[in-house]
Amino acid sequence: MLVYISPMSGYTDFSYRQIMKKFGPDLMYTEMVNSNLLSQKNSNTLEKIMRISNDENTGIQLFGSDIENLYNNFIYLNELGYHDLLLNMGCPQPKILKNGSGANMLERYDEIQYLLSSLKEKNISVSIKIRDSINTMKYFNLANKLNIPYLCLHPRTKEQGFNGFANHNITKKLSSLDRNFKLIANGDIFSLEDYRKISKYNIDGVMLARGIISNPYLIKEIKEDKKIIRSLEEDKNLIIEHINLLVEDKGEKKALLEINKFLIEYFKFLNKEDMKSILVEKDYNRKIKLIKEVKLP
Ligand SMILES: Cc1cc2nc3c(=O)[nH]c(=O)nc-3n(C[C@H](O)[C@H](O)[C@H](O)COP(=O)(O)O)c2cc1C
Repeated sequence: MLVYISPMSGYTDFSYRQIMKKFGPDLMYTEMVNSNLLSQKNSNTLEKIMRISNDENTGIQLFGSDIENLYNNFIYLNELGYHDLLLNMGCPQPKILKNGSGANMLERYDEIQYLLSSLKEKNISVSIKIRDSINTMKYFNLANKLNIPYLCLHPRTKEQGFNGFANHNITKKLSSLDRNFKLIANGDIFSLEDYRKISKYNIDGVMLARGIISNPYLIKEIKEDKKIIRSLEEDKNLIIEHINLLVEDKGEKKALLEINKFLIEYFKFLNKEDMKSILVEKDYNRKIKLIKEVKLP
């Protein structure tokens, strides 16, 4: 089963990908790239977000609403040598929707068809990541017609945001239909047990998102279909390695702040005060010491 890692703003940066790649994902993504900023040759986009090391298999996802701009930028990415290009058609954040991007692209079937067909004529294959909508079958058929590398389905609607559950009955239904592209299932895969339920369907792979935040072990568990028992010490070592990578990439101040969203997940079992004292610590050595001192309740 293929295991892909979703693009996730604020998470799938260079440092965390160096951690995740140890667990053997088939494909990862950088944080999503704003197509408009790419056109402006924004240095943060080109030098930070899109920085990929030679030994990681990582693609790029674009979000945007201007079809011509997206067309030009997928060509540009292809020229730069990026691969596994993906179009974001699922983001439900108001600031993304406001510009007609993300999940609002789902309604624009004709334009998407035009975009992907035009790129195909240039020999550039772009995969799509969609949410469920009235156009789900249309996108499934388009993926077949254009033989795109894969279609990733997050079976929640735009309106649902992150509420309720991913309706994998839709995944099941799509997986039973003939296709010539890879069907990648996404949504609510937090554990090996969640994966095993979905793996019964005729899918080619899964795309993990929230499930790998502070649990990159899930990648290996799914690849090997085997539970991994890990110790707190192993988690601490991984966290410290992650902090050091972040320090190297973004400097100490940013690193010690950015690791916090991971620490909250790794150390869920801590009481409020102990958690707070680690999170607010701004000194590198003291923060590492506090992490090393964490004990299970
Ligand atoms: C913090 C965060 C950032 C995300 N960023 C992106 C993104 O940049 N592009 C995208 O297609 N989906 C993004 N997603 C959505 C996920 O890819 C995925 O579709 C969704 O979280 C459902 O999967 P999950 O239940 O495994 O988390 C993001 C989700 C989270 C929680």
